Amino acid sequence: MKNSENITTIMVKASSKYPIKIGSGLIENAGSYIKQKISAQKIVIITDDIVDKIYSRKVEQSLSSNGFEVLKYVFENGEERKNLTTYGQMLKFLAKNQVTRTDGIVALGGGVVGDMAGFVASTFLRGIKYVQIPTTLLSQIDSSVGGKTAIDLKEGKNLVGAFYQPSLVLCDTDVLSTLPKSVFDDGMGEAVKYALLSKKVFKLFESEKLELGKLVTLCIDYKRQVVEADEFEKNKRKLLNLGHTPAHAIEKLSKYTISHGKAVRMGIDIILKNSATLNLIKKEEYVRIKEILDGKLRAEENPFTMEQIVKACAQDKKRSANKISLLMVHGVGNVKEHKIDISNLKGYLR
Ligand SMILES: NC(=O)c1ccc[n+]([C@@H]2O[C@H](COP(=O)([O-])OP(=O)(O)OC[C@H]3O[C@@H](n4cnc5c(N)ncnc54)[C@H](O)[C@@H]3O)[C@@H](O)[C@H]2O)c1
Ligand SMILES: [Zn+2]
Repeated sequence: MKNSENITTIMVKASSKYPIKIGSGLIENAGSYIKQKISAQKIVIITDDIVDKIYSRKVEQSLSSNGFEVLKYVFENGEERKNLTTYGQMLKFLAKNQVTRTDGIVALGGGVVGDMAGFVASTFLRGIKYVQIPTTLLSQIDSSVGGKTAIDLKEGKNLVGAFYQPSLVLCDTDVLSTLPKSVFDDGMGEAVKYALLSKKVFKLFESEKLELGKLVTLCIDYKRQVVEADEFEKNKRKLLNLGHTPAHAIEKLSKYTISHGKAVRMGIDIILKNSATLNLIKKEEYVRIKEILDGKLRAEENPFTMEQIVKACAQDKKRSANKISLLMVHGVGNVKEHKIDISNLKGYLR
């Protein structure tokens, strides 16, 4: 990790190597950072309508003043647009504008923009370079690392995609100030997950005021280590699914009216409480951890019974044969996988 003029750089060494820059004022200087990484003629900004209104102009100006020809594709915000139709329209836009293999894409927005623009970049002309400028807390701490790109099908979320690493990621922490509270809290739901996985993040949670630049840096650095050890999600990367088995169940039961981040926060409470019930962590330790996490973001009330959740968990995609894999908390920074018989799941999630 390198620090200069309040910009932190984290190098990700996956199948390809790329820097993630974190700090204030990165958007205004996007063009000059991108120029150092991509020798393109044209850059296509892909963004959604909300982010477009607030941030596109700054990025466009910075790209133009660094000599790039700038094109822009804007689509309506929201997960509902992360589909084959939008994907197809993006590809056609690139083709019509004669974007070539040496040109580049800038994904400016939250996880929806990042996942889709990344998938477009991975497939258009069999792959062109792209840069992520994540603008939500969730996309900065989660989707900016790891190179997962995807679109949804009616049959399910993220069913089509690729592992495709960007050339550069710019996490401008200033942009987090315009997030609606509920979108910010979605990101905090994942941050709470990192606080249990990483002692460093937990320590930051213990401080009175959560410094966002530090939070983003520590979460990204944690995910970087995990991704470097297991880029293609065979083993260690599973840890990042802490709380996600009950969370997916809750999302599904709510017919997706409860957002992912909120469901993750609820899922973490369920796992933590049951880790204490099963004596994997001591009661006092449970109380202490819960108090620290709640101090930064409390889970909203979970409207479902444990019986409903267990039933929905049994249908989780992480299940194989009659076993289900569940991550339990043995302490801060000590999360372990338990392979459980489906018939035993009730005992684990009470
Ligand atoms: N690739 C990965 O590893 C990965 C990881 C986690 C999540 N995801 C995906 O990310 C998506 C969710 O991402 P998200 O939570 O960022 O949602 P999102 O992209 O839908 O953004 C949420 C809302 O915030 C608005 N917004 C974005 N930045 C803003 C800003 N700075 N100021 C004001 N408004 C802003 C957007 O227009 C949108 O309305 C899901 O599709 C999920 O599958 C991918
Ligand atoms: Zn998640």
